[in-house]
Amino acid sequence: MNTNPVQFDPARVSISCRGIVKEFGEGQAKVTVLHGVDIDFPKGATSFLVGPSGCGKTTLISVIAGLLTATSGRVSILGEELTTMRGAKLVEFRAKHLGFIFQQFNLIPALTAAENAAVSLVVRGWTLASAKRESNRLLDRLGMGANRNKYPNQLSGGQQQRIAIARSLVHDPDIVICDEPTASLDAETGRDVMVLLKEVASSSERSVIVVTHDNRIFSFADCIATMSDGKIERFEVLTRN
Ligand SMILES: Nc1ncnc2c1ncn2[C@@H]1O[C@H](COP(=O)(O)OP(=O)(O)O)[C@@H](O)[C@H]1O
Ligand SMILES: [Mg+2]
Repeated sequence: MNTNPVQFDPARVSISCRGIVKEFGEGQAKVTVLHGVDIDFPKGATSFLVGPSGCGKTTLISVIAGLLTATSGRVSILGEELTTMRGAKLVEFRAKHLGFIFQQFNLIPALTAAENAAVSLVVRGWTLASAKRESNRLLDRLGMGANRNKYPNQLSGGQQQRIAIARSLVHDPDIVICDEPTASLDAETGRDVMVLLKEVASSSERSVIVVTHDNRIFSFADCIATMSDGKIERFEVLTRN
């Protein structure tokens, strides 16, 4: 059974999903992965999306992020309907408002830490010099200042994840979406990463969504949405916003 989304004050909702269905393939090969997902994510909070492997978490956040198109249903972000947005407008909207952190860091091996983190700004038209100045500021904050000129293969997994985090935060997005951000990290580095993300979500206008099944970090959640077989089974608000 699909639960109704928790009713937040509409002004406090950053992402709203209604009736999201996602099918892959056609005919005999058709699989329905999302079976009508209704969920709202609040501003100023870190919301966890949890559930067993294969239940559709990555598919749902990919639809939210506009990386996949839903078969049916609606997604609105910051009051704007994403589902009908196309082409350059969608690309621009995503670039302005969203940041992603993936389990695999997806760093560019030929670029230094500072250059990797600067990529998000360079693609937005910043000069490399000014983008690197900005990314260095963030790398300093992440305790990565000494590593700014190193290449990914000279850095540990935790350090690489911090570069990926810097890359996804450097353009100051309103919404940060993370898919299993701590899965490749040891407990302590995973906690450091969560402390940082909580800091991002402590601004009342920002939201962080974390897909995870890492129960070592559950204490960082303000809200927990539990998915099962392509549906939201439960939505718990642990701290009121
Ligand atoms: N492109 C695709 N084509 C067909 N099936 C897919 C595709 N992407 C994901 N799936 C299937 O959708 C289901 C949910 O996948 P996913 O969203 O990655 O789950 P989770 O992130 O919760 O582990 C899985 O059964 C997966 O095999
Ligand atoms: Mg996944």
